[in-house]
Amino acid sequence: LATKEVDIGAVEVGSGIKVMWQGKPVFIRHRTEREIEEARAVPLTALKDPIARNENLGGSPEATDDNRVSSAEWMVVLGVCTHLGCVPLGTDEGDNKGDYNGWFCPCHGSHYDTSGRIRKGPAPQNLDVPPYTFLTDTTIRIG
Ligand code: FES
Repeated sequence: LATKEVDIGAVEVGSGIKVMWQGKPVFIRHRTEREIEEARAVPLTALKDPIARNENLGGSPEATDDNRVSSAEWMVVLGVCTHLGCVPLGTDEGDNKGDYNGWFCPCHGSHYDTSGRIRKGPAPQNLDVPPYTFLTDTTIRIG
């Protein structure tokens, strides 16, 4: 199936889920206010990859937090490290979220922030944001 509908109604603030789409993991995180603030406070000059990598936007917009989300509460990214493709940690309870409180790839030590942007380690790019739309407040369609 090219698209996948996901019910996110039960995903509480401060937690996330991992679903499979086209054979790849997709992380859907219900961000806390603090996570959103952390992501928004990062100056663009601090980013290793300045491009949003959001398939929902045309062109190559800047990697502001706004350009990475459709709704600030929800972070939706492919769970594929942009270094060599491992699945980063940070979605399950107790996972190491890395130095920037987002996701951490244990394969070679890449740290992603709460916007899924690469901040430290060998990965060259931000986690990709797949195409998705909100069908309702609690359902998204990926693809
Ligand atoms: Fe993630 Fe190398 S594959 S750091």
